[in-house]
Amino acid sequence: MLREWQHDGASVPLHPGDLGWYWRFGAEATAKAVRIWRRDGRIRALGLLDGSGLARLGIAPGAAGDEDLARRLAADVSQPERGVLPQGTASVEARWRGVFHELLLDGGWELSKPWTPLVRDLAEPVADCGVRIETTGPEQASVRAAVQRAAFSRSTFTSERWHAMTTGPPYADARCLIAYDDHGVAVATATVWSAGAGRPGLLEPMGVHRDHRGHGYGRAITVASAAALRELGSSSATVCTATANVGGVATYRSAGFRPLPDVRDLRRNA
Ligand SMILES: CC(C)(COP(=O)(O)OP(=O)(O)OC[C@H]1O[C@@H](n2cnc3c(N)ncnc32)[C@H](O)[C@@H]1OP(=O)(O)O)[C@@H](O)C(=O)NCCC(=O)NCCS
Repeated sequence: MLREWQHDGASVPLHPGDLGWYWRFGAEATAKAVRIWRRDGRIRALGLLDGSGLARLGIAPGAAGDEDLARRLAADVSQPERGVLPQGTASVEARWRGVFHELLLDGGWELSKPWTPLVRDLAEPVADCGVRIETTGPEQASVRAAVQRAAFSRSTFTSERWHAMTTGPPYADARCLIAYDDHGVAVATATVWSAGAGRPGLLEPMGVHRDHRGHGYGRAITVASAAALRELGSSSATVCTATANVGGVATYRSAGFRPLPDVRDLRRNA
């Protein structure tokens, strides 16, 4: 269902790949982290509670103007007893414009730091990235995890989590890539998530081992990710990173991604 909500031109809304990446914590944790809003029996909005007081919301096409839904969503995220967000400081990612935003802003929520969505159209073939890239299978899970931890200092990724992630339904349309340097050292990694043929795919996460930065591996793994998504049938490759992550934005641009207007989460301060 979340797959069918993906369409080109949007500012990288909640994607099946976001659920897929969360699945590293296991099926039970993922089920506990998901909230669903129905209207007339149909699912109209979905939330992923991404830990640490953040609710990432996705909405069905055409539902942005539904005022009743917007009011329900606003009440549910604002009132801790409704089991969406905890008391105190909390954030909401909602990448559509409309009544929901207005209701939260009227209720004292504020816009928080900007994020930059980026997109690369995949109509044309993607040129070779110039670096050896391999798709991760079970035997490379520990290498995949080690590069993740070397790229993101607070990462808790392990091969066990990789295995958990790959049991999730979203991973059926995903791939983990590892880039190797000329000496066979694993230097960069990325995971790409397709939402099905003709829909935007997601690149999440992407990182370069801290000891191997500044040699073009970020660009290379990002180009390879775009190529992998094209092979999976995606119409475009999308990604979103904090605007303050100057290196991340520069790397995506260098790999042929085009920045879209910045987006901001909504934040309630304690
Ligand atoms: C961001 C990151 C992927 C860059 O990797 P890298 O291998 O050093 O990047 P590259 O050498 O391929 O550089 C690609 C381009 O980005 C630019 N760039 C890279 N880091 C930069 C920085 N910190 N500031 C400004 N520009 C930067 C390079 O100059 C290059 O530009 P060019 O192609 O126009 O010359 C790496 O620092 C990293 O893994 N960071 C932590 C994880 C992360 O932020 N991931 C991305 C967002 S989820």
